[in-house]
Amino acid sequence: MKKIVILTGAGISAESGLSTFRSADGLWNNYKVEDVATIEAFEYRPDMVHKFYNELRHIMNKAQPNLAHYAITMLQSELLDTEINIITQNIDLLHEKAKNKNIYHIHGRIDECICLNCGQITKVGGDISSVNSCPHCEVMGMLKPNIVFFGEMPKCLNKVEKLLAECNLFIAIGTSGVVYPAAGFVQIAKENGAKTYLFNLDKADNVDLFDYHFYGKASETFKQFAEDLLIEQESSL
Ligand code: OAD
Repeated sequence: MKKIVILTGAGISAESGLSTFRSADGLWNNYKVEDVATIEAFEYRPDMVHKFYNELRHIMNKAQPNLAHYAITMLQSELLDTEINIITQNIDLLHEKAKNKNIYHIHGRIDECICLNCGQITKVGGDISSVNSCPHCEVMGMLKPNIVFFGEMPKCLNKVEKLLAECNLFIAIGTSGVVYPAAGFVQIAKENGAKTYLFNLDKADNVDLFDYHFYGKASETFKQFAEDLLIEQESSL
């Protein structure tokens, strides 16, 4: 069986209207990371952190997947004898909304919060604030958005390590290759023998580690790539 790993970043969601982090109008050009994405910020100014993620949740709830997400859906349902796993840095739920399968959210999810007192994860419908109590342990003010802040450990890394060791093809879509450990996944896959493909609007920081580069909007470049794979499959049957 062929095994494909797709690593996604904010660029795959850009055409769904969601801001990336490092573009000129990106989130990190309008907010300071240390104000909204660190444990210290959460300890000292929790309501500022909650306000940032509450607003993002409203925006993300309204967003819809684009052709790049649906191209993954198509590959997962039509490529024969192939397992496709998605490692996403995105906290939006556009892969889920596009009915993608095998999704690993290494930077967390916008629809969850985690209690810093008891560790339980709870689904979030509306806004959260520092006066909310955990539904499990009932302690107030300890519900943190279930997002990996700077300095925290990404999630699912054991599973990710296994997927990277086993894949024959590693594809990155819409990620600047700046944030580790995700930026290093291509190297691990390559060392384990995978071919490596990058689909990005422009050059990523780790561009040299990719065998093939497709520059442009992922809804065009990756959709075309997915269609070509299926045509190739059909002609070889
Ligand atoms: P970045 O904002 O760093 O990079 C987004 C990349 O997507 C850029 O290289 C763009 O060129 C590319 N891009 C933009 N529009 C695109 C399009 N339509 N098609 C294809 N590519 C496009 O976002 P990430 O790499 O995802 O972490 O950032 C990684 C992490 O940094 C995020 O998960 C976030 C952030 O701090 C946390 O919040 C924990």
